Amino acid sequence: MKEKIDKLIKLREEAKLGGGSERIKAQHDKGKLTARERIQLLVDEGSFNEIDMFVKHRASDFGLEKQKIAGDGVITGFAKINGRQVALFSQDFTVFGGSLSESHAEKICKVMDMAMKIGIPMVGLNDSGGARIQEGVVSLGGYAEIFLRNTLASGVVPQISAVLGPCAGGAVYSPAITDYVFMVRNTSHMFVTGPNVVKTVTHEEVSFEDLGGADTHAAKSGVAHFVFDSELEVLENIRKLLSYLPLNWKDLPPEKDFDLTKNLIEVKLDGIIPDTPNKPYNMKEIIILLLDEGDFLEVHENYAQNIIVGFGRVGGVAVGVVANQPMVLAGVLDINSSVKGARFIRFCDSFNIPLLVLEDVPGFLPGTEQEWNGIIRHGSKLLFAFCEATVPKVTVIIRKAYGGAYDVMNSKHIRGDFNFAWPSAEIAVMGPKGAVEIIFKKEITSDKNPEAKLNEKLSEYIEKFTNPYIAAERGYIDEVIIPKETKIKIIQAFQLLKTKVDTNPKKKHCNIPL
Ligand code: HXC
Repeated sequence: MKEKIDKLIKLREEAKLGGGSERIKAQHDKGKLTARERIQLLVDEGSFNEIDMFVKHRASDFGLEKQKIAGDGVITGFAKINGRQVALFSQDFTVFGGSLSESHAEKICKVMDMAMKIGIPMVGLNDSGGARIQEGVVSLGGYAEIFLRNTLASGVVPQISAVLGPCAGGAVYSPAITDYVFMVRNTSHMFVTGPNVVKTVTHEEVSFEDLGGADTHAAKSGVAHFVFDSELEVLENIRKLLSYLPLNWKDLPPEKDFDLTKNLIEVKLDGIIPDTPNKPYNMKEIIILLLDEGDFLEVHENYAQNIIVGFGRVGGVAVGVVANQPMVLAGVLDINSSVKGARFIRFCDSFNIPLLVLEDVPGFLPGTEQEWNGIIRHGSKLLFAFCEATVPKVTVIIRKAYGGAYDVMNSKHIRGDFNFAWPSAEIAVMGPKGAVEIIFKKEITSDKNPEAKLNEKLSEYIEKFTNPYIAAERGYIDEVIIPKETKIKIIQAFQLLKTKVDTNPKKKHCNIPL
């Protein structure tokens, strides 16, 4: 028996070396960790159970039959993160450049199938040259098997992707279907076609980093939800993200202990809104003051910054925050911010994460660029997402709530559960100047002193509409609150809503305007 055990230990040691020490060195020289080092840093110490360590490819073309490496370029298994189970795979670039063979794909599909059956999140660490070229269509089939599983798992278990090296061609669509994509500056690259093909087809000269690097995808395309300078930060933040998420759609997000008896008055909130309505302020200051320990994990921090989305806790309850940002484009809703908000809301709703909405929105962005690119179609995504969501939904109107944007941003009419407003709230069909110029056009233009008339009508309009009380009279606002009491109010609301049940009509699936 001893011999047999020794043989197993030896085989394990060999498998753990992947493509060998030279390739491991090359990986380190590129500033990258190995697939195993990444797993070690990601999961709770000693919790990883690997499966399929000895799987090898079955290809025999191009001399591959002489190069068989245990594991075939991907490590798969189960582990704990923050004491809770996850399934994971980590592609090993030292073995055939982490390229995806039939066997490699089968390993990934096996853990994905298990993650679905058990009901646990799936974390994928991607570092791959793409389809294993020598295996041809078999490898493409392997990708398709993964795409199918990514799609079927969507909304069933959270799926998180870290892209920690190349991710090119159709391979990008696996991370893209998952819920969150993490990237590292300078070493992660995602593109459908690389710089050489781009040059041939469009004659554009572009570097790897500019075409498909982390900052490009974080700020321009919105493909990456999180970017960091190092792999270590990526792995730490995957752990943090998971701390807000349930294991699956039937589970609830983990709650933290919170002393509900402590003093929750936040006097600073009374002094944040400037006296002039068009002066910006930083909505993040309010978010930080409202969340437990000021702890906010922002999603899509560099993309469509006129809307802010991310995770935090309110009285120990995990929430998804959706907030307009008056510092960027006055907090207006445009195509990118609508899509960003909609995707986040739908994620939260899929996984029972309550929504906290902080509203200061002057409306939708006007202009041909927005209209021709489909603000109608894309803006409706945000509306659709809020309408569809059945999780607890709490809105605080901080300042502006104008026009269609009032309806969209989780108004009472679309099933907002508690809708609060600060005394600074302005709720109306449109801003004072635009409104007065339309409804008093004749009176103003025919007056001897049009400017004085305009100002008179402006004061009248402001007096009548730029406040929360007309909406409160109708019950569209449940309560006008003093800013410093906001934390108490939202904590009480989310506590009360813990047992909320709401459903949508039974159907095959909805048809969100894509
Ligand atoms: C087989 C591959 C491979 C691949 C890399 N290797 N990519 N083997 N299939 N797709 C091997 C290399 O031959 C090399 O083996 C080792 O991995 C390391 O690769 P290097 O080129 O030395 O590394 P580096 O210089 O860092 O370049 C990495 C790279 C480059 C940028 C990823 O290897 C590359 O361009 N690979 C091809 C990428 C590609 O076009 N893939 C297909 C995309 S389309 P040795 O033995 O020499 O160390 C696709 C379709 C998916 O994936 C479709 C889904 C629908």
